[in-house]
Amino acid sequence: MTSVPVPAPDAAPAEPTGIKMGPVVVALAIGSAVSVALGLYGRLHTPTGYAVNIAGFSNGPAAKAFLATVVMVLAIVQVVTAMGLYGRIPLRGAWVGVVHRWSGRAAVLISVPVAVHCLYALGFQAFDGRVIAHSLFGCFLYGAFVFKMLILTRDDSPSWALPLAGGLVLSGLTALWTTAVLYFFFV
Ligand code: HEM
Repeated sequence: MTSVPVPAPDAAPAEPTGIKMGPVVVALAIGSAVSVALGLYGRLHTPTGYAVNIAGFSNGPAAKAFLATVVMVLAIVQVVTAMGLYGRIPLRGAWVGVVHRWSGRAAVLISVPVAVHCLYALGFQAFDGRVIAHSLFGCFLYGAFVFKMLILTRDDSPSWALPLAGGLVLSGLTALWTTAVLYFFFV
């Protein structure tokens, strides 16, 4: 008598057919190129050193630290709503997707002027380990963001690719925030 193999009841569901790795590799390559290009620009151009400020803040770095913290809070909203969308926590309703999309858009819009000041005025500096780490994570963040946006548009990418991309963006931002804002406020 021949026995038929029975899948374990808790085995992970198989990926639907038609899943391709090519788009993931291409998205990863483009994201990496963006990170490297930002790093090269930051390192090769002469920092202008110009200062900015926003009314109500004591100085430019304080305004940047505040804006970067708003971006961090929006990123946490992104994680929580993403967990709802993936059914990991009991958050349901069409509003979850709307909040996820708009918190992401707002985070990018708010981060860009801060990053432009960093890259254009300060450049990729390497005078100590923390600053090297901050500069690296800043460049990494936008590469990871491009990777995520490219994966988002592909229905045929593996189901793990989008959570991976989101995780990379959050990790980059957390490291970037820790090496700039936490230091700015507490050291
Ligand atoms: C894109 C690549 C980036 C590079 C190369 C870069 C580089 C730098 C450098 C060299 C400093 C001065 C470090 C110090 O003296 O303490 C700095 C500070 C800072 N950066 Fe960035 N950064 C980048 C992206 C970002 C992003 C995306 C954010 C937040 C969304 C950010 C937020 C800050 C903050 C809050 C400070 C402290 C205030 C200041 O010194 O102006 N940076 N960055």
